[in-house]
Amino acid sequence: MERRWAWKDRENIQVLTFLNDESPVENDVCLLDDDEDDDELLDGGVLYESEEDKIRAGIVQKRLFSDRLCEQLEEQIEMVEEKANRGEYKKNTVDRSPLRVKYFFGEGYTYGDQLERKGPGMERLYPKTGPDAVDPIPEWIKKLVIAPCFRAGLIPSMEWANSAVINDYLPGGCIVSHVDPIQLFDRPIVSINLLSDSALCFGCKFRFKPIRVSPPVLRLPMKRGAVTLLSNYAADGITHCVRPEDVIHRRQVIIIRRVFPDAPRLPPPAVEPWNDLTRTVRLTPIYKSAIDERRGGTASRVSKGANSGRTLTGQYRKRQHSGDSEVASAEESSPPTPLTRKKHPRIVF
Ligand code: SIN
Ligand code: MN
Repeated sequence: MERRWAWKDRENIQVLTFLNDESPVENDVCLLDDDEDDDELLDGGVLYESEEDKIRAGIVQKRLFSDRLCEQLEEQIEMVEEKANRGEYKKNTVDRSPLRVKYFFGEGYTYGDQLERKGPGMERLYPKTGPDAVDPIPEWIKKLVIAPCFRAGLIPSMEWANSAVINDYLPGGCIVSHVDPIQLFDRPIVSINLLSDSALCFGCKFRFKPIRVSPPVLRLPMKRGAVTLLSNYAADGITHCVRPEDVIHRRQVIIIRRVFPDAPRLPPPAVEPWNDLTRTVRLTPIYKSAIDERRGGTASRVSKGANSGRTLTGQYRKRQHSGDSEVASAEESSPPTPLTRKKHPRIVF
């Protein structure tokens, strides 16, 4: 029977294995037997003592940004916010929810309730060009975030990072448990924590109305100025989230990732649906009636009842998310029209 020795250095978050006759250093080792119960603690040929250790093995954290550099980055994010408020970004660059704003640069993708077909694995990149594309990565992110990460040896090249997302959380804001879509993003997932200290939690379950979060398998402190890299089990084997109780003060994060060149992408829209008059007339009785009215006809006068038929259905349905947490969602079941299109609060990642 193969016997496996595991040696763990918690500070450097490294794990080495020694098989059979190789001699590990005393005091730093424990002898581990092959055992079916241990299967869950095996990862990449290494047997861990606990799930927490398995998560930690996939995490690297470094305080890369001084207070002065953090201030510079926070000022830049303030300018992004101002530009967004002036409406100067493309529509898919900015995604607002009540306690969180997300800004997508380089690449954007459909997620949560934006998905036509929901569930993990269904996320799709937006087209590279056209009205659905997002804005390019700003130069300041390249110079002040990607370059320092590259110089510190955290990412293999400047070009590696082709997607940058800024999340801006108000106190009590959160992000539900999820795994960053594996069909879209390479690992590691790199994030820089700004504005205030917070924490990333692993293995939580969310419940809603009122919001409740189960105790995490691991709570990872995120200091202002710290860079966190997730890979292996920490990125792929367990969900991560930000709990409302871990966002005491306004907090921002910049997430740097590599989108795979062959990641699934939505096709550019053939016709902008809102400009397609035929479709609008066919789908919305109120237009039909208005046109009839103008023509002097009465045949399709719209009753109050018919009008109220255009209300939303299927609101606040619960759904399973990443096989782990539930997300309360609001969705429009009827096609939106220029008259009634509403933005509903969503809880998404
Ligand atoms: C974070 O806010 O630190 C994590 C965000 C995410 O995983 O999308
Ligand atoms: Mn994530």
